[in-house]
Amino acid sequence: MRIIHLSDLHFGTVTDALQRDLIAHIRQEPADLVIVSGDFTQTGSAEEFKKAHEFLTSLDIPYFCVPGNHDIPRYKWWHRITDPYRVYKKYIAQSLFPMWEKENVCIAGINTARPILPHWNWANGAVSMTQLYYLENYFWAHTGKVKICVMHHPIHISENSHSFKTVVFGSGRAMQAIKDMKVDLVLTGHVHHASITQVEEDGHKTIFLSASTALSTRLRMQKNGYNIINIHDGVINIDICAYENGVFKCIKSLSQVTQK
Ligand SMILES: [Fe+2]
Repeated sequence: MRIIHLSDLHFGTVTDALQRDLIAHIRQEPADLVIVSGDFTQTGSAEEFKKAHEFLTSLDIPYFCVPGNHDIPRYKWWHRITDPYRVYKKYIAQSLFPMWEKENVCIAGINTARPILPHWNWANGAVSMTQLYYLENYFWAHTGKVKICVMHHPIHISENSHSFKTVVFGSGRAMQAIKDMKVDLVLTGHVHHASITQVEEDGHKTIFLSASTALSTRLRMQKNGYNIINIHDGVINIDICAYENGVFKCIKSLSQVTQK
């Protein structure tokens, strides 16, 4: 199984040349699924969502999505409070708790963005108890499969995240739950910086894979890029690709056998 992991598209800040090159690179090999870990738009406008939808459908691959903090309307305050995911649901996906299974892989997503937070920076995120119960039930029902969880905000500390502090309410509890559920792979975005972090507990390793921004000009100490995940016979292979001088190149890889 081949999965394309994109994040932080931020339509509204996208250049046509990069979009064209990304589509061409993704199409070089057939893929089973495109996962987008949030921030499809810059301001949450219908116009930006429409462009994101056109991009997704142009890939001609099934897609699996969770929203990010930029997918809640920035300027339409009434909508932000009363119906924050109305436009996201119209153009991207109906469910805020998406799930997907194929062969020996199961995937669940949760929404970590919030319209309001008890923090000066509402770009931060949160994981609720309800979302953890949902994940626990889902993964328990798919015992024996490779487990993948998708969320926009990182709940882990990556090797290079010191420059990109993200506050996620409930992250400590969520991290423990992810370990207890023996999730194999957690896909995140938000920090616009690709990284691979392995967390081990009780002999089980969880990989936290962060993606750079695939299309936005809003770079943070790293080029645009995306991740390719191949899963075969219980082995997860990850390639982080970066866009440099008009070409996507693999800059980091990891291969890990999943443990049951
Ligand atoms: Fe974000």
